Amino acid sequence: MRNQWRWLLLLRCHSRSRLLISTLPHSQVNSTRSISSWSLLSPPHPRRVTINQFHNPPMSLRFFSSSELAVEPTKDQPDQNQIAVLTDIFSRTQMSNEKIKLQLESNNIVITHDLVLNALKNLQSAPDVARRFFKWVSKSDNEKRLSSKSYNLMLGVLLGNGFVKEFWDMVGTMKKKGYGVSKGTFVKALEKFEKDGMSDDVKKLKDLYASGSTDNSVENLCSRVCRAIRSELWGDNVEKRLRGLNVEFSSELVSMVVDNLGIGANKGLIFFRWVEESGLCKHDERTYNAMVRALASEDASNKFWRVVDEMRNAGFEMYRDTYVDVLGRFVKKGMIKDAVDLYEFAMGGLNKPSVHDCTFLLRKIVVGKELDMNLLSRVVRIFREGGNVITNSAFDAVLKSLTSVARVGECNSIIKALEEGGFQLNGTLQRKIASQLSRGGKHDEAGEFMDNMEASDSTPDHKIWASLVEGYCLAGDLEKASDSFRKMVEKVDASSTGYALELLVSTYCRKNRAADSYKFVTEMIDGKDLQPWHSTYKILIGMLLAQGGFKEALDVLPLMKKQGYPPFLEPFIEYLSKCGSPDDAIAFSKAMTVKRYPSTSVFLQLFEAYFKVGRHNEAQDFLAKSPRYIRNHADVLNMFCSVKSGEKAPAITMAA
Ligand SMILES: *[C@@H]1O[C@H](CO)[C@@H](O)[C@H](O)[C@H]1NC(C)=O
Ligand SMILES: *[C@@H]1O[C@H](CO)[C@@H](O)[C@H](O)[C@H]1NC(C)=O
Repeated sequence: MRNQWRWLLLLRCHSRSRLLISTLPHSQVNSTRSISSWSLLSPPHPRRVTINQFHNPPMSLRFFSSSELAVEPTKDQPDQNQIAVLTDIFSRTQMSNEKIKLQLESNNIVITHDLVLNALKNLQSAPDVARRFFKWVSKSDNEKRLSSKSYNLMLGVLLGNGFVKEFWDMVGTMKKKGYGVSKGTFVKALEKFEKDGMSDDVKKLKDLYASGSTDNSVENLCSRVCRAIRSELWGDNVEKRLRGLNVEFSSELVSMVVDNLGIGANKGLIFFRWVEESGLCKHDERTYNAMVRALASEDASNKFWRVVDEMRNAGFEMYRDTYVDVLGRFVKKGMIKDAVDLYEFAMGGLNKPSVHDCTFLLRKIVVGKELDMNLLSRVVRIFREGGNVITNSAFDAVLKSLTSVARVGECNSIIKALEEGGFQLNGTLQRKIASQLSRGGKHDEAGEFMDNMEASDSTPDHKIWASLVEGYCLAGDLEKASDSFRKMVEKVDASSTGYALELLVSTYCRKNRAADSYKFVTEMIDGKDLQPWHSTYKILIGMLLAQGGFKEALDVLPLMKKQGYPPFLEPFIEYLSKCGSPDDAIAFSKAMTVKRYPSTSVFLQLFEAYFKVGRHNEAQDFLAKSPRYIRNHADVLNMFCSVKSGEKAPAITMAA
């Protein structure tokens, strides 16, 4: 503290120009620093502890954080993070299936076909983890996420780690399920068996190959089917070729074909229809889901919804990963209405979207090209009808999205829509909103927000008012900050206004308006009986002195005294010793007068300070104007004598 006053005074005394304190924080581009300059203006004081009770400083810190505006990554692509979590979960040997399920859910991991493949690729040298994972997937209701491809990857894990018996066991299982050993796996296995001189296994493998089991891998069939379909326009020829392949159109094969036809969704859909109409395959949940996913990747909204409805009418559910996949596509293409329709559809099924999904959708709606309140209300209604209530943390996420597109001004209507869904804004967020609105210069919206709260059960408390004032202070809008403070004083208990008042005082001073700050404080003390904090007075005095307000600074002293605070001498002494006139010094000593006489100790401290900066003549002038009992005081005389005789000014030790 001390150093800071010194520095301020130095600036003022040694340059004729007035110190522009307000330029201080702004001259530093670095946002971290502007905070610390800001907090320098508020000297530490025990009473400031109360601020922490409602965590305002961290709040103001948050305003400066650029991460607030960072766009969050979109979700649900199997990524390294998810694999790491999976590896961690399945590395533990003692975890029950139920526990595993919970762990996955809490990490928002959905087991998809791609995720299984990715995980197995990553686990090639961790056979135990891979085995546990594979076993879990095949036992749980995620079994349908397994394919011939994942079985072959698992075969690779077993083979690579020397589990030959398990390798053969799995080949047996695959046979039963109609999966074949892929060519790649076959080659690798043959190499290994030959190298290790395992002639029995070599023979067994060759027999397997001869029996055609490898050729019948679904991948192989799929590529043959796709080739036939792509060869020419759909027609009798294609159909003839497909029949000629003489393959069994299992649900896995049909799904894979539909997936693989890629952008030829029309062909995919024709194939999908044909294969059932010609009695080659009865569609099930798996084939429907594959078809739905493929259609979503096209601009084929009508067809998509037709097949989706058909699927439900046939009694099948949309898989969770289909939902996630399709929703992601819609959102990416800005098809928010379709995304909401999909959400409604899924909420009506058995695999209901999670609470997180609702938040995700709300966030996408509020950052949409246009803020569509109807869609927002619809999501809220659907969510509510599903027996859910929107939480504050969900709203917090929505608010962040809103801020990221500079739409925080819309939050009143959003809150209203959410409240219709049973949402109740908590205190922390009320403060955050008040502050963000005022900081963003949204006067009308801020006013509306406060009015709405007043009209509801939760009358804004002093913390919310303080946040409002704080926002205006951070935005540098002193007039609005003062107006809000005046309103606050009408509404809340005088004793709870200290923090906001200090903020105002600091901000005025920072803007080089210490004199206005002083006027405001006296208005509040005289008119409203407010009792500023000790630290507030200290800021005021320091800044008045630094900004040429010596007289007003003196006038602060009686105000402090009236509240029973000790006087704040240091900045005065420093100021006077460096640039005060003898008359200023006398005026100060009078202001410090206790009973009849100015205290001797104050004079001694002043003289010492004059000598310290080498202003001997001024010390003499001041002495000449001092009352007689000072001029004759032994300690004073000693000090002047020792200075005259060339010694350094003696350090005084005075009883207070
Ligand atoms: C900002 O200031 C902080 C604290 O003084 C410092 O650690 C950081 O390196 C600065 N950053 C820039 C970009 O100057
Ligand atoms: C209000 O909700 C936010 C977001 O979930 C949370 O961080 C905060 O702690 C909550 N505050 C209170 C007082 O419960």
